[in-house]
Amino acid sequence: MADKGVVKVLGMCGSLRKSSFNRAALRAAAELLPDGMTLTVADIAAIPLYNEDVRQAGFPPPVQSLREAIAAADALLFATPEYNYSMPGVLKNAIDWASRPPDQPFNGKPVAIMGATSGLWGTSRAQYHLRQSCVFLNMLPINKPEVLIAQAQTKFNDKGELTDETTRKLIKEHLEALIACTQRLAA
Ligand SMILES: Cc1cc2nc3c(=O)[nH]c(=O)nc-3n(C[C@H](O)[C@H](O)[C@H](O)COP(=O)(O)O)c2cc1C
Repeated sequence: MADKGVVKVLGMCGSLRKSSFNRAALRAAAELLPDGMTLTVADIAAIPLYNEDVRQAGFPPPVQSLREAIAAADALLFATPEYNYSMPGVLKNAIDWASRPPDQPFNGKPVAIMGATSGLWGTSRAQYHLRQSCVFLNMLPINKPEVLIAQAQTKFNDKGELTDETTRKLIKEHLEALIACTQRLAA
């Protein structure tokens, strides 16, 4: 941790849409941060589709910025929708780009995961796919409590505010587990 005691978290959202429930969940997380934690959210909208030929010529600027932001963060927070039982392509694509050598920036990072869907299963299948990628990239995903936001349309109001107290509590506890893990690693 660069500033002693402050855990800097980089958020990444798997949805690009303006009224995204997952983006709204990241805004809720920003309100629920434990003391000593900051959150900034990466913009992954400009990241091109992965192409190894392009990589060999040099990381495109939006990828380079993302890689630097990940490297500078003490921990990560993913908010992902579920698309066809997996994580959306935009998020996987951003992870794929950022994961390429040299200095794979995800290595050893504690990571919190949450997901919101209008469906009934709260993005569980997307989150397990995301967890698989976290394992390969040697991230350290927080296991509990899981933040599975099902039927999101009933949990956020029309201003995109998270009104469901149970979900707010789960996000708060998940972030507390993230800061504890990050501080343990830094000790
Ligand atoms: C291509 C596509 C596939 C989807 N597949 C699933 C799915 O497998 N499971 C699920 O619960 N919801 C699925 N959904 C619904 C999304 O989870 C829902 O639209 C969600 O609100 C998207 O997240 P956002 O609000 O952050 O944009 C799918 C939506 C799209 C566009």
